[in-house]
Amino acid sequence: MTRLYLIMLFAAVILASCSSNEKPMSKEEQFVEDLLEKMTLAEKVGQLNQYTSRWEMTGPAPKDNAGAQDLSAQLKSGMVGSMLNVIGAVATRNAQKTVVENTRLGIPLIFGYDVIHGFKTMFPLPLAEAASWNPELARLSSEIAAKEAAASGIHWTFAPMVDVGRDARWGRVMEGAGEDPYLGSAFAKARVLGFQGDDLNNDLTIASCAKHFAGYAFSESGRDYNSVEIGDETLHNIVLPPFKAATEAGVATFMNAFNTIQGTPATASSFLQRDLLKDEWGFDGFVVSDWNSIGEMVPHGAAADLKESAYRAIKGGSDMDMEARAYIDYLEELVNEGKVDGALIDDAVRRVLRVKYRLGLFDDPYKYCDVEREQAMLYTGEHREAARKIARESMVLLKNDKQLLPISDKVKSIAVIGPLADDKDSPIGNWRAQGEANSAVSLLEGIKAAVGNNATVSYAEGCQLSIGARTFAHAMTYNETDRSGFTKAINAAKRSELVLLAIGEDCFQSGEGRSQTDIGLKGLQMELFNEIYKVNKNIVVVLMNGRPLAIPEIAEKAPAILEAWHAGSEAGNAMADVLFGKYNPSGKLPVSFPRTVGQCPIYYNHKNTGRPVPEAENMVLYSCFTDAPNSPLFPFGYGLSYTDFEYSGITLDKTELAKDAEVTATISLTNKGTVHGEEVVQLYIQDVAATYTRPVKELKGFKKVMLKAGETKEVSFKLTDKELGYYYPCGKYVVEPGQFNVFVGTNSVDVKQTQFSIL
Ligand code: NOJ
Repeated sequence: MTRLYLIMLFAAVILASCSSNEKPMSKEEQFVEDLLEKMTLAEKVGQLNQYTSRWEMTGPAPKDNAGAQDLSAQLKSGMVGSMLNVIGAVATRNAQKTVVENTRLGIPLIFGYDVIHGFKTMFPLPLAEAASWNPELARLSSEIAAKEAAASGIHWTFAPMVDVGRDARWGRVMEGAGEDPYLGSAFAKARVLGFQGDDLNNDLTIASCAKHFAGYAFSESGRDYNSVEIGDETLHNIVLPPFKAATEAGVATFMNAFNTIQGTPATASSFLQRDLLKDEWGFDGFVVSDWNSIGEMVPHGAAADLKESAYRAIKGGSDMDMEARAYIDYLEELVNEGKVDGALIDDAVRRVLRVKYRLGLFDDPYKYCDVEREQAMLYTGEHREAARKIARESMVLLKNDKQLLPISDKVKSIAVIGPLADDKDSPIGNWRAQGEANSAVSLLEGIKAAVGNNATVSYAEGCQLSIGARTFAHAMTYNETDRSGFTKAINAAKRSELVLLAIGEDCFQSGEGRSQTDIGLKGLQMELFNEIYKVNKNIVVVLMNGRPLAIPEIAEKAPAILEAWHAGSEAGNAMADVLFGKYNPSGKLPVSFPRTVGQCPIYYNHKNTGRPVPEAENMVLYSCFTDAPNSPLFPFGYGLSYTDFEYSGITLDKTELAKDAEVTATISLTNKGTVHGEEVVQLYIQDVAATYTRPVKELKGFKKVMLKAGETKEVSFKLTDKELGYYYPCGKYVVEPGQFNVFVGTNSVDVKQTQFSIL
């Protein structure tokens, strides 16, 4: 046999074995390919176009009020693949029918909606839920939200927002899981699993969407929609991990972001959307743009006109255009001119069809449009009970100096005061989906129900917080002058043994587009506190808010503070459960609370700098402020209980380990108090010297442990490569040898410490 013959024979054998190993197409792939084959270019582009319904605008009105005039005609001609903000079994059925019965191929619409912290039954804000440090609760609330939304015709939520938020000035910090990528990843995963379950085809589940990819929370000065200038090391180690966790949990879709990142609009970033997300992470769902984020490339200065925006977005890997009308107007033209490869369009369409297939919409486009199911599923007693349980576990006890809490049944007179004390609306939150205005249980109602006849409860608003319009579309105006309610409030405080003072933020004060330069208490609230304090020092401040607040004076003077957030439909009952000790608080802050807005962004996992402050703070020529400490008012991970927990020192099963080996850290935890309670045990590490500087502490484990009074439990954490490495700016994950500090404790500051080395 000649050499050439041998080579040919070998090649033939290889080819044959390759083709015989080729996986046959799955049913899903086959379906999608067959359908794609039948589609014209115009029909394909239609699948990539998403409009809002005309009755709910969750962003500025688009170009020419796009689609408004002839929506029905556009639906019939197959120009629309998805709609957002169409709600209800009837409305979604009608829109679906228009498309399925009139278009050539009858490809169903996918209906998206912002189901952020509940659909009709409202749960605490996502930031608040993260304060429970119990991802199972987020999974449960997402599962219930999905059930309710699915019963109302919704296929797809634009949640979870998994942006790591370090800046309290940014109003959307309420929508995420706080400042830490490890905690954020745990919550990202839980929420995806909650919304989607293990089968998207199940009509109790909906598709989820990890957003906003990427860097949105790092907008300069916390001003929404602003530019983002973070380095690649921060991008890989802080911003991306929760997105990766969502992908690993099987998230069906991604949403990109309004911001530019190092000069590139996230919407046009092929590095993020193609190289990383679709290629490296293997994500096979689709990426939707944010509201007109394709169009916003023009004012960003990244495209001369909408046609160039469309070109950059599709090249960059944005598959569906929300509200810009860029794809529907220009993609066909761009393909026909040879500027955009038809294969890119096919790839995007394939992704959209895949998600529709997974939802089962090709089998039954109306499976989510059942009026009876809708009536039976929403706002049930069971859902509200879950909302109460989740809300009370999300609350954080920040101070309890005079043991005012839990409120003793010896207390016979309680004054419930403050602009938020009987506010039945703010607890519903900003992104309220179908949560009804004024439907929450207020603090006052919760307290009255809890005390029954055991004590008198007097109520006074004291002052209004805001004046004028309170809606998603308006900036707030605060009451700075009307003190007419002060006297009644002062009198109520005078004649009561205990004051519950409900202050903080109106729910429309935080959220999208609600950046603030002042994160203290707005309006007359601080003045009201001081007036009450003059006549009654037994004040429990109940905070309701969506962002960390800078409240140093309250923290100093008030003997007790409960962070209750905007806690959802059952807020008042949940607050009463905590205040009366029916539930022993176990929440821990998922964000640092600054002393002053000038410290923002403030976060525990910062770098050490070359000049860390040696002993005292406020030293010149060191990395500190000269007019305020570096430390936060309340640190990340902080939260008290009605009982005391004692931590032993940390023991390690080894102090030197080979690369790729594991180490286990153990502490014993004792409940020294007289009541049972849960403690969130937190483990942090520090890679002391590394090629690229590492934070002073990084959360790498947490466990929520229930202990009876007097009980001791051992708590262990295993540290592996997964926890001990980090990403180089190029995106490579590396575990470096050297010394590691390990910290275990009750928050990010109050910790025991030991160390080990990787050889
Ligand atoms: C803009 C927001 O940034 C995004 O999170 C939301 O899903 C869309 N509007 C749709 O309402």
